[in-house]
Amino acid sequence: MSTIELEQVAKSWGDTTALRAMNLQIPAGSFCVLLGPSGCGKSTTLRIIAGLESATSGRVRIGGKDVTHLPPAERGIAMVFQNYALFPHLSVRDNIGFGLSVRKVPKAQAQQRLAEAADLLGLSHLLDRKPGQLSGGQQQRVALGRALVAQAHVCLMDEPLSTLMPSCARKCALSCVSCNSAWG
Ligand SMILES: Nc1ncnc2c1ncn2[C@@H]1O[C@H](COP(=O)(O)OP(=O)(O)OP(=O)(O)O)[C@@H](O)[C@H]1O
Ligand SMILES: [Mg+2]
Repeated sequence: MSTIELEQVAKSWGDTTALRAMNLQIPAGSFCVLLGPSGCGKSTTLRIIAGLESATSGRVRIGGKDVTHLPPAERGIAMVFQNYALFPHLSVRDNIGFGLSVRKVPKAQAQQRLAEAADLLGLSHLLDRKPGQLSGGQQQRVALGRALVAQAHVCLMDEPLSTLMPSCARKCALSCVSCNSAWG
């Protein structure tokens, strides 16, 4: 787990300003939730932390290291997107395990993490399906599973529970909390 710090981060595109001068310090090992009306800059903040957008000005630090100009792949972050971003041609199993095989995590360890995440998220019976054969809520849980198995130092989630029924959203939120404490 790593601290995240934003110092005077601003972001604008032409006349549109998403962030003016954002200062934020998130301690390592904690959960931080950004709340605010539509368009206030929540996704932009996450995308800047992940490196998917560059800040117009200001600094981003992760684990004390200045990552303002580092590409996303070098930031050690897992992210759940607002729109799932699943691979349509891959099974649920391969979607969740994709990052593990890319990072060459040993097979037995990868299978164990995958089975644990699928169990926590109620996806064990759907592992052989493709995303197109799932409901919206199930797809969202696959996206969540993919981020959880990565066991990254920072896990960013952009409205990961928004399409789930309240009871399922609560269960998934609790899963995230238990993964945070179990997997550190
Ligand atoms: N690529 C872009 N080009 C221009 N403006 C953008 C771009 N991306 C976002 N914006 C604008 O920046 C502002 C913040 O957008 P952002 O997506 O961060 O909001 P949000 O808080 O995540 O909203 P929501 O709750 O609806 O997801 C909005 O006014 C949006 O229109
Ligand atoms: Mg958003």
